[in-house]
Amino acid sequence: MPESVVIDRHDGVALLTLDNPPVNGLSFAMRAALGDCVMEALADEDVAAIVVAGAGRMFCGGADIREFDAAPPPGAASLPAVLDELEASRKPVVAAIHGVAAGGGLEVALACHVRLVAPGTRLGLPEVTLGIVPGAGGTQRLPRLIGVEAALDVIVGGQLLPAERAVSIGIADELVPGDLLAAAIARARQLAADGAPLRRASALEERIAAARDNPEVFDAFRKKMARRARGFDAPYACVQCVETAVALPFAAGMARERQIFERLRASDQSAAQRHAFFAEREVTKIPDVPKATEPLNIQRAAVIGCGTMGGGIAMTFANAGIPVTVVDVSDEALDKGLGVVARNYAATVAKGRLSREQMDERLARIGRSVSYADVRDADIVVEAVFERMDLKQEVFRRLDAECKADAVLATNTSTLDVDELAAATSRPESVIGTHFFSPANVMRLMENVRGKRSSARTIATVMQLAKRLRKVGVLVGVCDGFVGNRMLAPYLREAEFLLEEGALPQQVDGVIYTFGLPMGPFQMSDLAGNDVSWYIRQRQAATRPPDLRYSPIADRICELGRFGQKTGAGWYRYEPGSRTPVPDPVVEEIIVAAAAEAGIERRAIGDDEIVPRCLYPLVNEGAKILEEGIALRASDIDVVWMHGYGFPRYRGGPMFWADLVGLRTIYDAMSRLYDEHGERLAPAPLLKRLAGQGKGFGDAAA
Ligand code: 3HC
Ligand code: NAI
Repeated sequence: MPESVVIDRHDGVALLTLDNPPVNGLSFAMRAALGDCVMEALADEDVAAIVVAGAGRMFCGGADIREFDAAPPPGAASLPAVLDELEASRKPVVAAIHGVAAGGGLEVALACHVRLVAPGTRLGLPEVTLGIVPGAGGTQRLPRLIGVEAALDVIVGGQLLPAERAVSIGIADELVPGDLLAAAIARARQLAADGAPLRRASALEERIAAARDNPEVFDAFRKKMARRARGFDAPYACVQCVETAVALPFAAGMARERQIFERLRASDQSAAQRHAFFAEREVTKIPDVPKATEPLNIQRAAVIGCGTMGGGIAMTFANAGIPVTVVDVSDEALDKGLGVVARNYAATVAKGRLSREQMDERLARIGRSVSYADVRDADIVVEAVFERMDLKQEVFRRLDAECKADAVLATNTSTLDVDELAAATSRPESVIGTHFFSPANVMRLMENVRGKRSSARTIATVMQLAKRLRKVGVLVGVCDGFVGNRMLAPYLREAEFLLEEGALPQQVDGVIYTFGLPMGPFQMSDLAGNDVSWYIRQRQAATRPPDLRYSPIADRICELGRFGQKTGAGWYRYEPGSRTPVPDPVVEEIIVAAAAEAGIERRAIGDDEIVPRCLYPLVNEGAKILEEGIALRASDIDVVWMHGYGFPRYRGGPMFWADLVGLRTIYDAMSRLYDEHGERLAPAPLLKRLAGQGKGFGDAAA
């Protein structure tokens, strides 16, 4: 029976089993059932001890996140109150934890007197990743159990820890290989027989007292987390809760934790981060690729082209334990590309994030060749040669001739038509795009670009591959720039127009950074290299409509050889060996001159003009992408932007953010921009329709 807690009696021990597939989520109904079972076990004179366990795959994945926006039913049991009852029990309570104990799930366990864990279990308090604090005593019991500093790491870090680590720092008491339930029941019975005092986390004062003597630990922690936590509310609220645990008695601390929990639960940031959680799970679901589709089992891979991307992609395979052969035109090209790979690994070893043995293992998985014959046994080949259609088609013809019949032929192209590449082969159903982001071994996004004829199996294979490579795969359709770069184009364009109209790169970048992106458009271009888009613009020049506004600033910057960080100058200048952008008067001169030539009178641009001007057109492009079916869902676009471009998770991605701003507001602003600046900024029909209906992109999915 789903959504229940089952109570079984085992000779004096009541076994309470949480049963609510898939993760035994603590819904309102589950909390009530748990409360009832606890009362029943406490009242039953034949019960001397209690064991709490989970049915199926895990102990418990925490509160039911889907109910966060719902009002609790009248008289609903509060989880902290149920757990207080459980902890206060005179009868010993043992948690038997397997699979996962996360969030409210771990909080249930923390209220038990003993925690036994099965090997392979993961435990933690991931609430912070949902924009909230643990709300059922996690921030009050954990520091009492394991000390303030360790608790801060667990609560603010939000990671699930392996069982061994959880035991070693004292979150759990013992690792139990073998029959966990039998061990837990035996332990409960033994504790009851011994009648020894029970260990209640809420009553442990020693660690708290120690922290009282060391109050600077909190400021030090805030300082340490500042970079990663920038813009997020929840990490700071978590620290505040732990501070409260030290400052206040347990019951008062619990009340304060609840208050903070409720405030954050109702916040936009939490809504955004919960949206991100579900978006990342939704993105794996492809309506016309049935779940039962059997993906190809990738045992060997090959990469064609050992440049910037090819090397990074090879590392990604090697890191995931998949042997990979890299093919390039010459030994010199291979030496160069694989030299970069070796240096990348060595740098990670030097930072202490990889052992020498691991590096050697990974390097040993990367083979090299100048012959296409060596890709014959690969299950997937990722092409990453220069961005030229004729060259890539030639590569695909050769792959078609060499590769085994069921191999997936993938391209890392960032702008070219996957269908045209597929047409160069006799097996278009096996051809697909796998658009990695630079640096490919670091960035988690993989835009998987389906061609018109890509088969369900080919799609399923690259979606599963993304998971194996520890990436986030988003399925998109063919169009210029796919999802991410297509939306980036209007953003970069408007940022440049703002320069002509009166802003400077440092102002625009500053505002966008404050909004929450890792850097603004100009710093980003300097990092990526300004030359790449310059070549693309040169190629497009012949077909560009002459009456369309065009800013020559970026071209002029490139004409001076200012390709960005790699040449020591771009939109900014960089001291030798430094990545810190320094505003450059030369750039300002170029901007002022370009404005004068275009007859634009520069004016003071308010900071508040910059976000709408740069980001509304980006959202507008997203609306077109959605309407054209290039992305399956608005939330898929959000996943692209969070993982490919660092769009702040606490804003949920551009489409979710747009819904929060209100599509009416965005539509009205786009209409004004359209009147002022013309066709480029015409509001997308979908934006217009949804705004008119008072709906958001989230509703469009429904
Ligand atoms: N509530 C509701 N649904 C949940 C859920 C939860 N807590 N956790 C997972 N799910 C759903 C997922 O959305 C997914 O649904 P779908 O199949 O319809 O897409 C399904 O359960 C399976 O989830 P995963 O694919 O993520 O399963 P895994 O086995 O890979 O991972 C997990 C399991 C580690 C538990 C992972 O699901 C997870 O991290 N869940 C969230 C854990 C969490 O954040 N808990 C804290 C909740 S807040 C809380 O507890 C407040 C408390 O302090 C009061
Ligand atoms: P690159 O210029 O660094 O490397 C290309 C490599 O391909 C060179 O080593 C070259 O010798 C090799 N090559 C050329 N012809 C070949 C052939 N016939 N057979 C085998 N190898 C051949 O290029 P980069 O930047 O790695 O880009 C590769 C692809 O990835 C392009 O399609 C590009 O659009 C795409 N891409 C690039 C990104 C970036 O940030 N650099 C991001 C995402 C995609």
